[in-house]
Amino acid sequence: MNDPISLPSARILGIESSCDETAAAIVENGRIQLASVVATQIDLHAKYGGVFPEVASRQHILSIFPVVDQALSQAHLTLNDVDAIAVTRGPGLAGSLVVGMNMAKGLALAVDLPLIGVNHLEGHIYSAWVYSGDVFQPPSEPQFPILALLVSGGHTELNLVVGHLNYRRLGGTLDDAAGEAFDKVARLLNLPYPGGPSIQKSALTGNPEAFSFPRARMEGTWNFSFSGLKTAVLRVVRDYEEKSIPLPVEDLAASFQAAVVDTLLTKTMNAAREFKAKEILVAGGVSANRALRTAFLSQTEFPINIPALSLCTDNAVMIASAGYFRFMMGQRDLLDIDVFPTWPLS
Ligand code: KG4
Ligand code: ZN
Repeated sequence: MNDPISLPSARILGIESSCDETAAAIVENGRIQLASVVATQIDLHAKYGGVFPEVASRQHILSIFPVVDQALSQAHLTLNDVDAIAVTRGPGLAGSLVVGMNMAKGLALAVDLPLIGVNHLEGHIYSAWVYSGDVFQPPSEPQFPILALLVSGGHTELNLVVGHLNYRRLGGTLDDAAGEAFDKVARLLNLPYPGGPSIQKSALTGNPEAFSFPRARMEGTWNFSFSGLKTAVLRVVRDYEEKSIPLPVEDLAASFQAAVVDTLLTKTMNAAREFKAKEILVAGGVSANRALRTAFLSQTEFPINIPALSLCTDNAVMIASAGYFRFMMGQRDLLDIDVFPTWPLS
């Protein structure tokens, strides 16, 4: 596909509701964020220690209309100024996906706009090239092949991005996703949901070398495994509890975080060398982690692209951005499409 700058201009309305954020955004030419609204349900799910699917779907129903409305007014646009509607089709929670999908279908029908179903993981990848205004300079154009590390609450995988919308999956986690490990370990340490930001905060005052936690190397594959690490943390927690010694929460958080970052960095670097990548891209909720960003930004072997912080966790900018490239490729979906709760990128 051509450089997007030479492609015809288009404004895409993006809608995202795959998990616990209801989001809408408008993106121009796949790269320029004009508006972004995210209604998070974190407070609603915090008391359950994780996402409660039925509560999530019902909250999406309440939020979806105001969120889309706010995105349009933030951009000072109406639906008549939009060229297509992109919506997350999967992967995610079925009951949550359906809400965004039905909103997108309703709008597409009402104003006769093309409907484009987008893969949430593809969205995370495309978030890395969007200029959100949060940083000084727009990200540079992609240089293929790109080694992409996707790290979120539901996924941890390595993909080779061969060209626009063209992926080769190299491997992924065999058990917990990295974000899921953060969330589960946070629960063990009595830190609030979502675990990633709480562990990051607690780790600030901890010693990352206090505990030597395992780094599963999974030699000879591009896979990950985080269940052994989680069990190792559990063993230490039980040990302290049995001896009635107060938990060194900060040290545990810092040592756990260091083990995750080290595991992700080592495998990604090895894959980038093996597949002669021109750059590395890290995206998904866990890419918001400061220690992870610092580790990747400190290596000098490959150019590195990590989305602006506001685009790491779930948002609709990423869906509108990926939707633009799909729109330009000619994708048009019918109004009877279903959602895909499970939907691999390749
Ligand atoms: O991409 P995302 O918003 O939703 C999914 O597609 O899953 O990722 C959410 C995950 C959660 O597991 C959350 O704990 C993690 O991203 N996360 C973080 C941080 N911020 C969010 N993990 C580590 N450090 C963070 N700062
Ligand atoms: Zn996500």
